[in-house]
Amino acid sequence: MRKLKLAVLISGGGTNLQALIDACNDPSYPAEIAVVVSNRPDAYGLERAKSAGISAECVDHKDYETREDFEDILHDRLKDHDVELVCLAGFMRLLTATFVGKWKDRMINIHPSLLPSYKGLHTHARAIEDGVRFGGCTVHFVRPEMDDGPIIMQAAVPIDANETEDSLAKKVLTYEHTLYPEAVRLVAEGKVRVSGQKCVFKDTDLGSVGLISPVPAN
Ligand code: GRF
Repeated sequence: MRKLKLAVLISGGGTNLQALIDACNDPSYPAEIAVVVSNRPDAYGLERAKSAGISAECVDHKDYETREDFEDILHDRLKDHDVELVCLAGFMRLLTATFVGKWKDRMINIHPSLLPSYKGLHTHARAIEDGVRFGGCTVHFVRPEMDDGPIIMQAAVPIDANETEDSLAKKVLTYEHTLYPEAVRLVAEGKVRVSGQKCVFKDTDLGSVGLISPVPAN
């Protein structure tokens, strides 16, 4: 089976990377990780990659004078590994429009909110503060604006009465680990494509069950 070649870009712990590694270990999964790149030398995700026998490289942004210089090297590394799809997984550097353009519709990101709500940082704290009933996570194609782009997949997670930022982050992260490998599968199997600002799907069940919170008494 032909497998889509992935790069996973990280800056930290890499639990989403681990979910992708685990998915790729299934021989029937339609993608494989060609390289993991971190912009931080101390990112624990690099250890996860090494333990799995995957090329793990660091391109430290601090070693470059400009964002462009950093991205040129990053781009070269991805090319060296014949990468076809770039997966941002907790990668904490903003990318320039030039770099994003080079990977248009070939770069995806996971973000811990129901986009387009709560772009940026501290998504869970802000959602709890606002009293919204659902948090969640989104996998989307990357566009030059931060946390913007056609949405591939989302999971909604109810926010409890006693929810804290940590407890919500923990709950949402569990869904992230299901979401990211499934979103990559859709891309790899050619079941999702970008049309204008949106994704359109082929042979894919988009679900029909709604969620209500609080649950109606009767
Ligand atoms: C995740 O919450 C992801 O949505 C966000 O950064 C976090 C990365 O976590 N973009 P991990 O490094 O994958 O554990």
